[in-house]
Amino acid sequence: MIGGGIAGLSAALTAAEAGKSVIVACKGMPTWSQSVMAQGGINAELGGDPESHAIDTLKGGGGIGNPEAAAILAQEAPEAVRWLDRLGVLFDRDEDGLLRQRPFGGGSHPRACYAGDRTGHQILHILYHHALSHPKITLLSHRHLIELIAHDGRIQGAWFLPLLGGKIEVILAQETIIATGGYARLWTRSTNARGSSGDGITAAYRAGAALRDLEFVQFHPTALEGSGILLSEAARGEGAVLVNDLGERFVNELATRDLVARAIHAQLLDGRRVFLDMRPIGASTIEQKLPQELALCLDFAGLDPRLEPIPVAPAAHYTIGGIAVDTTGQSSLEGLWACGEAACNGLHGANRLGGNSLAEAVVFGRRTAAYAASTTATSSNIQPQKPSWLDELRNLPPANLSSLINDLGTLMEHHAGIIRTLDGLDEGITKALALEQQSLTLGPTSQSNRALGELLEFRSLALLARLTLEAARARPTSIGAHYIVEGV
Ligand code: FUM
Repeated sequence: MIGGGIAGLSAALTAAEAGKSVIVACKGMPTWSQSVMAQGGINAELGGDPESHAIDTLKGGGGIGNPEAAAILAQEAPEAVRWLDRLGVLFDRDEDGLLRQRPFGGGSHPRACYAGDRTGHQILHILYHHALSHPKITLLSHRHLIELIAHDGRIQGAWFLPLLGGKIEVILAQETIIATGGYARLWTRSTNARGSSGDGITAAYRAGAALRDLEFVQFHPTALEGSGILLSEAARGEGAVLVNDLGERFVNELATRDLVARAIHAQLLDGRRVFLDMRPIGASTIEQKLPQELALCLDFAGLDPRLEPIPVAPAAHYTIGGIAVDTTGQSSLEGLWACGEAACNGLHGANRLGGNSLAEAVVFGRRTAAYAASTTATSSNIQPQKPSWLDELRNLPPANLSSLINDLGTLMEHHAGIIRTLDGLDEGITKALALEQQSLTLGPTSQSNRALGELLEFRSLALLARLTLEAARARPTSIGAHYIVEGV
């Protein structure tokens, strides 16, 4: 298992329960993964109407989503939530002990189960606790994926760089599952942590796996104006409204994210500012149900959402595309599977509903592991060749990574943002190609493994910048989160 977020740990526990020995290798600590930042909820149709969940998912995705994946998500999410509940996730409950559910954008009724506004944090810590104590799971932290090992026509494991120092390591595996998340940090304004550099996606691509749907990048409507820190959709689900600096409401706050983000963007282009006004929720509900939003506003904007509106703007949040998989999680390469944000089975179509990423991570994480664990493949006794190119990198002139990553971020904001033009995409591809070429000629800033890992992240981001722009250019019409206008 490569990746230790919610998808990775759900998969690891499922494979271990099926009797498999599982190694989980992740770049940081599992508890640092991007899933820990998922705030508002996990969608599950507890009221016995899974079809409505599938329909909302497909509608929200612009009608081009995968109906089979949507039906599976809708059918299996209630059991996934019950599984998390049994493991000890502290979901909010009502007076009768039933799980509370809140509305999220694009949902026909309240469907997001939640743990305050720290749902991902709760889930991840509980999964981590179980994975840590499971006798069949070995957790290896601070391992940067270098490359996948292909042998006899199958993927049979991977090479890793230990970020805290030491020689590169090989892990051979009967089945390899990638759950390394997405790459939304590529944009300058992003809700994502720095680690979201799509390493698993690019490793799969370099090994020959098919990718899909990279043009669909979700911009979360409400990130803090300056820092881009996420303010959860849970706030709007609980009754917060969006207003401009004239005090006017201008959008249905519970429309799908693509629409809300574009409406805010249009206000900003008109020279207005936009505010999330949480006061209609009431101070005590903010304190009880949205304590993290309260703390983020106080700590990072110096503003109190109980008393005043909070300035917000959209930020890149989630990359819908990724490693192309079927609904079992199988990629186009034998022995290679993927789940979570790193994977794409078409579930979200052109736009993901809030609350569906946690559901996807758990449902398809468990499902992928169950299928991977049921194969009868045996590992060959191989002696894989060391990736010698890595040592060569150490001798290249040091890169000014922060400036190059800034360049990539600016490029993506300008050319692959909320609104795109065909000419802009063409120009973006040329610039991205130049940065990608440059990324191949530069070395780490020091001889430490950490510095080498940072360089590998940059190379991954540079490749994904080009691939995303090319995917966007290949779809000349607007749909969902991919919005094309005429002009330059
Ligand atoms: O706004 C949020 O809480 C984010 C949820 C999601 O991306 O699913």
